[in-house]
Amino acid sequence: MSTRHFPDGFLWGAATSAYQIEGAWNEDGKGEGIWDRFTHRVYNILEGDTGDVACDHYHRMSQDVALMKTLGLPSYSFSVSWPRVLPQGRGAVNEKGLDFYDQLVDNLLAANILPKVTLNHWDYPQALQDAGGWPNRDSVDWFVEYARMVFDRLADRVTLWVTHNEPWVIAFLGYALGIHAPGLCDYSQAYQAIHHLLLSHGKTVQLFRQGGYQGEIGIVLNLEGALPASQREADQAARQRVYEETASLFLDPLFNGHYPGMLFDWIGGHQPRVQAGDLDLIKLPIDFLGVNYYRTEAISHATSGSLLKAEAAPLSAPGWGQTEMGWGVNPAGLTATLLDVKERCGNLKVYITENGCAFRDTPDERGFVADWGRVNFLRAHLLAALDAIDAGVNLQGYYAWSLMDNFEWAKGYGPRFGLVRVDYDTGRRIPKQSARWYSEVISQNGINP
Ligand code: FCB
Repeated sequence: MSTRHFPDGFLWGAATSAYQIEGAWNEDGKGEGIWDRFTHRVYNILEGDTGDVACDHYHRMSQDVALMKTLGLPSYSFSVSWPRVLPQGRGAVNEKGLDFYDQLVDNLLAANILPKVTLNHWDYPQALQDAGGWPNRDSVDWFVEYARMVFDRLADRVTLWVTHNEPWVIAFLGYALGIHAPGLCDYSQAYQAIHHLLLSHGKTVQLFRQGGYQGEIGIVLNLEGALPASQREADQAARQRVYEETASLFLDPLFNGHYPGMLFDWIGGHQPRVQAGDLDLIKLPIDFLGVNYYRTEAISHATSGSLLKAEAAPLSAPGWGQTEMGWGVNPAGLTATLLDVKERCGNLKVYITENGCAFRDTPDERGFVADWGRVNFLRAHLLAALDAIDAGVNLQGYYAWSLMDNFEWAKGYGPRFGLVRVDYDTGRRIPKQSARWYSEVISQNGINP
């Protein structure tokens, strides 16, 4: 069969985030982050893993950029660690921390790799958490001040910006379910955090435009597939609640200036306090929406458990099984998600900002991993992305998660998502079969089905 091509100018890349790869948790003046605090407390993370050293990227940055160049990556998506550049979250700047990102950007540009920068990929300053964190309305101004500082330093060279990565995860896993830092279990705080995350996003977009910074700015949402487990009315209603909490809770305010009514009725007293004018700021036009897609789930009604009274089970397409995360593999779910985004956001530019999988990798004696499972996963999802493009979705880029194996949050170093293997004992990087395959996809801007 002949190669299916992506549109000209399609942006290819791979992604990481600061806490997951950098290490150097307390070096060169970095402040404590909520993930430092959270991982240093026993029992929060599987096997007691921490990001103290992680992939040691802080010390291996130039070699890592050289590796990206070898792989032929046109773009690299990374995040800035807020506590590394503002140890107390606001006020005094840590110049050494900023220098690190400055050099990273210079190295990338010298290697002809377009930097894409996320301001908030979860490693929030502990000092700000101690002052109330995202549920505190002051957090909006703290974020804008941080964003201004980073723009002032990097926006002369960085033209692709993301405010927040997956605000759903920050708020619900961090504030309602206690699975992520800061480890709280309080839905009211979670919903207030959502509102302040969105408001800080809007105010940062405003700052970006008014400050005359050049380039594109957007936000990244985790939009997984959710289907009702059965035709039963209770399951369909549960599915609708899950959809509203994961998709509408963000798409409604970002694009239509209101919060989803059905969900807000359901959560009742947990609704956030919203002030006049907030929603106008939240819906300021963005340049793109970032979509992270990993899986699809079957939703059923459950009388116990979460506030939504809903339960999710992995839903794989026939023959696919599950990933090591216990996630259902469902490439068609990506097409469906992108079509839904088109329906709801019009012709807005979309990037797939994360997509990938963890399977149990078995290295040979040289450390090489023949990860054909990952190749198959990526190929199927890229074909699904092409289907969405054929159906009119304005999809203009794709970032594989992840460039390299790294610290997978509450699951520690067990699940390996990398295109490149990291030997955690020596820090050695060894490109896997999937990295070779991905390089080829990039060079021909297409795939062989
Ligand atoms: C996403 C996160 C990313 C990574 C992948 C597997 O939700 O944004 O940091 O952990 O999942």
